Amino acid sequence: MSVGHHVRVDRRSGSHRAAILALALAFGLVLASGLALHASSARAQAPGSAPDAQAIERGRQVLYATGGCTCHTNYPGEGEAAPALAGGRGLETPFGVFYSTNLTPDRETGLGGWSQADFVRAMREGLSPDGQHYFPVFPYTAFSGLEDGDLRDLWAYLRSLPAVKRENRPPDAPFPFSWRATLAGWKWLNFTPLVFEPAPDRSEAWLRGRYLVNAAAHCGECHTPRTLTGGLDRSRWLAGSRDGPEGELAPNITPDAATGIGEWDAADLVWYLEMGLKPDGDDTQGLMSEVIEHGYANLPRADLEAIAEYLATVPAIGNRVRAAD
Ligand code: HEC
Repeated sequence: MSVGHHVRVDRRSGSHRAAILALALAFGLVLASGLALHASSARAQAPGSAPDAQAIERGRQVLYATGGCTCHTNYPGEGEAAPALAGGRGLETPFGVFYSTNLTPDRETGLGGWSQADFVRAMREGLSPDGQHYFPVFPYTAFSGLEDGDLRDLWAYLRSLPAVKRENRPPDAPFPFSWRATLAGWKWLNFTPLVFEPAPDRSEAWLRGRYLVNAAAHCGECHTPRTLTGGLDRSRWLAGSRDGPEGELAPNITPDAATGIGEWDAADLVWYLEMGLKPDGDDTQGLMSEVIEHGYANLPRADLEAIAEYLATVPAIGNRVRAAD
């Protein structure tokens, strides 16, 4: 996809659900046979050498840029609390409840048996080491745009975590949404690896902001409305979603003055991403408060300013998505 340009047209609504499902299912069936092939293909083994401390530290910064991968942590007060990044957190979506996976290096239940190449493929292509498709609740649509170095560093960081044994859980979702093979169809409809177009007339900060917003921080995964098949509606990029993860409402963050954050200046947004406080003094709820606390707030100020600089330049879209509505 090309960020900032609308490559995909607005998708239809309501009545086409069944047709789209059938289509997705058909593709799923065709591609399901291909999975066996993927699964048997040999894959690289983990390199022996331990990651160095600097890579781990850089990886921690990448983790902050993602918002702390908070979806993979059951914090106290959200059901049964579990150690950081050990997965098992239920994420409610219009298609069912999907449970995040264990990212700690436990061999049996986490990523202990993975190679760096496995990790990179999962993040970029949404494929597990044995070739299964991941549910798009895992935002590989955004992470596909992460740079090689950032992925390597993030991997080094994850390898440095204490291993926690905690089984992954299958989704509580009706067929066919629970069926991974269906996802081949979903990907065909909705997934193009993120590639950034050159923008020679833009500042370094703008480029950094574009990278953070669209790839690492994946703001669009929550703030962009989705189509009926659960794909991001790129014609309404960042224009607010009524069914963000966990059923939360994620407001319009385009620079539209009436319905977006056009009235916020750069300092307001930087302050918000650091403190979780809106210009009118309101605090932040839900997942946004988590990605701020465990992620964005820990980024260098220059990164937050870069986000603000870029965000002020995305197309303003009038779309009223507010908690009060
Ligand atoms: C995991 C989902 C998620 C991600 C990722 C996310 N947000 Fe949010 N965001 C939300 C939700 C939910 C709210 C509503 C919070 C509330 O009601 O207090 C919100 C609120 C906001 C608001 C307040 C808007 C207003 O009008 O009140 C801003 C600004 C914002 N997000 C910007 C961002 C930016 C910039 C990024 C990426 C750097 C981002 N968000 C990433 C879910 C997310």
